[in-house]
Amino acid sequence: MPGARVTRGIQIKTPDQVRLMRRAGLVVAEGLAAMGAVAVPGATTADLDAAGASVLKAAGARSSFLGYGAGWGYPPYPGVACISVNDVIVHGIPGPLALHDGDIVSVDFGAIVEGWHGDAARTFVVGTGTSPEVAALIETTRLACWAGVAAVRAGAHIGDVSYAVQRAVRAPGNPRYGIVMGYTGHGIGSDMHQPPDVPNQGRPRTGPRIVRGMCLAIEPMVTLGSPVVAEDDDGWTVRTADRSWAAHWENTVAVVDGGLWVLTEPDGGAAELAARGVPYAPLA
Ligand code: MF3
Ligand code: CO
Repeated sequence: MPGARVTRGIQIKTPDQVRLMRRAGLVVAEGLAAMGAVAVPGATTADLDAAGASVLKAAGARSSFLGYGAGWGYPPYPGVACISVNDVIVHGIPGPLALHDGDIVSVDFGAIVEGWHGDAARTFVVGTGTSPEVAALIETTRLACWAGVAAVRAGAHIGDVSYAVQRAVRAPGNPRYGIVMGYTGHGIGSDMHQPPDVPNQGRPRTGPRIVRGMCLAIEPMVTLGSPVVAEDDDGWTVRTADRSWAAHWENTVAVVDGGLWVLTEPDGGAAELAARGVPYAPLA
């Protein structure tokens, strides 16, 4: 990408580049909302993907996911979203699978605007509700994502973010959830996956230092049981080995002058950052 500056392997974005990523992030937010609305009993995972595709089309955006992996030994990814139901943690391929009342569906979606990516995920409950245990799993995963986001600041280390995610999952009183390793958050910019990896467990003051202009996708994957994964033979679908249910929550956050801008949230993160005393600093 011409004009992109890289420091110690990490792409540093200009304010104009972050503004393009905000446009991509808003498309992602819109797509997730549309797919969440389609996630009712009887809908197929292909129906959700189609809703994501129409949002991309209407916005004039491209998909970060479609065709991903082609050329390096994976079957090219066949959808615009990953739709992962119940015990599927991530990378569920959209298809004829129908959703049922009480299922949970993790929807992971990416968009490209003028070459710049946004990436986010939400876990939705299908229909009238789910058990208190599953609801708590989803809420813990959402809070862990926000704890990670709130630990991002210029001068902190990636390990501080990882530690914050881990601590939120391990909050006092929580069940012994599994934290999936081997799939991590990541830098994001002119590619969907860039350095640095952002693991969901780690030690404070370790790893690369965060500076202004970095953009990170923070994405805890949490299970009700074992964190050990098993891949289906489609080359993509990742499930829990013990078939326990899993949740996934992801946002793309930019480190900007004076604070953070959560590019994949409609409000830019204003509410959740304020609740955590973290400066919200959208670019004009
Ligand atoms: N969005 C996922 C992530 O959060 C990756 C999707 S894999 C793809 O990193 F193949 F679908 F692109
Ligand atoms: Co991601």
